[in-house]
Amino acid sequence: MTQYDTIALDYQRISAAVPLRDAEWYSLRQRLGDLTDRSMLDLACGDGMGTRLIKRWGAGHVVGVDISAQMIALAQQREDAEPVGIEYRVADAAALGGIGPFDRVAAAYLLHYAQSREQLLQMARTVHDNLRPGQRFVASIANPLQPPQPVVDHRKYGWSYRLMDETLREGANLRGTLYLGQTVVEFDFHWWSWDTYEEAFRTAGFSACTIEPFLVPPDSDEKRGVGFWDEYLAAPSAMHIICER
Ligand SMILES: C[S@@+](CC[C@H](N)C(=O)[O-])C[C@H]1O[C@@H](n2cnc3c(N)ncnc32)[C@H](O)[C@@H]1O
Repeated sequence: MTQYDTIALDYQRISAAVPLRDAEWYSLRQRLGDLTDRSMLDLACGDGMGTRLIKRWGAGHVVGVDISAQMIALAQQREDAEPVGIEYRVADAAALGGIGPFDRVAAAYLLHYAQSREQLLQMARTVHDNLRPGQRFVASIANPLQPPQPVVDHRKYGWSYRLMDETLREGANLRGTLYLGQTVVEFDFHWWSWDTYEEAFRTAGFSACTIEPFLVPPDSDEKRGVGFWDEYLAAPSAMHIICER
């Protein structure tokens, strides 16, 4: 039983409504580039919200992988009800091996679940082994450049996270909270420095990775109000890691 098996339904309901998603999905689409008929692996796909968007953006063969059987059950339910041709699998991204190669790999909030440097390296190897040379990996993560000391409070954007240990260190325990009005869902993950992420991806064979804030969607003034993203842009709570193989 993984932690997401117990929170799957709450996570699905709340995470779909989190304002941060506006910028995250908009940025993901920009950063993945033209997906027409491209094959795509979505690691830690959860209930398939992002996976279905990727399919809608034109991708061809799409595979979603998650360690939580409950999250995959939700994704599969949706696929069964409204089929778009996504293949889902229950698997640990750190132990997946090569099931591709794919033209793109995405991973929205996978890497900070690594419990050790070794596991992080295994995740980076999975990405490398499943990505065609010259192609791109895009991952969302809690911003390693802005560690919680002890809290990062972005409730305005739908989430916050706090340090559960006395001091910040590599692999420190964090607890995240997603908010939908008075309803919340909590989950535990880890803090790794940007140096540690970079080292894992370099060791796995990537020559260059960058870390970038989410892009502000063009319709955000109308949708959320002028200046809505200013606080996020001043100190982003979540970022994209982009690696080219
Ligand atoms: C915050 S959720 C993100 C789900 C989805 N990507 C999204 O953005 O809504 C994190 C997901 O990572 C999955 N996960 C955590 N560790 C994993 C691992 N080692 N391999 C595969 N999935 C993992 C969890 O089961 C959960 O579904």
